[in-house]
Amino acid sequence: MGLEFNYNDGQTPLDEEEKEGLKIKSITTQGELDEFEQLNIEKAVEWTIHSKLKPENILTEKFIKNLHKRMYSDVWKWAGQFRKTEKNIGIPWTQIEIELKNLLDDTKYWIENKTFSPEEIAIRFKHRIVSIHCFPNGNGRHSRMMADIIMESIFGNEIFSWHQSNMVKANETRNQYIKALREADNGNFKQLIEFAKN
Ligand SMILES: Nc1ncnc2c1ncn2[C@@H]1O[C@H](COP(=O)(O)OP(=O)(O)O)[C@@H](O)[C@H]1O
Ligand SMILES: [Mg+2]
Repeated sequence: MGLEFNYNDGQTPLDEEEKEGLKIKSITTQGELDEFEQLNIEKAVEWTIHSKLKPENILTEKFIKNLHKRMYSDVWKWAGQFRKTEKNIGIPWTQIEIELKNLLDDTKYWIENKTFSPEEIAIRFKHRIVSIHCFPNGNGRHSRMMADIIMESIFGNEIFSWHQSNMVKANETRNQYIKALREADNGNFKQLIEFAKN
């Protein structure tokens, strides 16, 4: 389709099939795409505020998919559907369902047993779900919104501030974020927790 997107460090390239899932044909630049996605995401945030989310429904595959759909379905046909191709980040796509199930079970265990603090549970969840990389794109923003929903609707705490950034642009804030994710890849969650809180 002749569209050239710019991919920042740590961003997932779309393959041709996924690019064809673009619903708004007038989008021609990465900047326009970012804006349309942002509008859609803001609608999803409104939805999370106005629909009383039940804690027991949040840590489910159904909710994970539904949230992604809410965030991106104005823009992408494949919103809310797990990927069926390999990515440079993430596990083999055939393992997504089982690895997500493991993550959901682990997270429920951490909550019940207070294994970590609420913020560490939310951030460990965020890091592991973005490492699984359930969807063709939008995983980073989806994982951060999941962390906020866990904080607010499961723990009744304030949401994270994420450096007041949606992290779609390549800049110093995004670099810091990617660095913190790499630390978390090595099992050190402190930097990512601090990043999320500031
Ligand atoms: N080394 C890493 N370890 C874990 N997650 C990473 C790493 N590098 C990038 N990511 C995550 O992957 C995301 C990019 O995936 P993508 O599906 O394009 O999400 P989005 O479109 O919301 O940015 C980044 O925003 C980041 O959250
Ligand atoms: Mg992306």
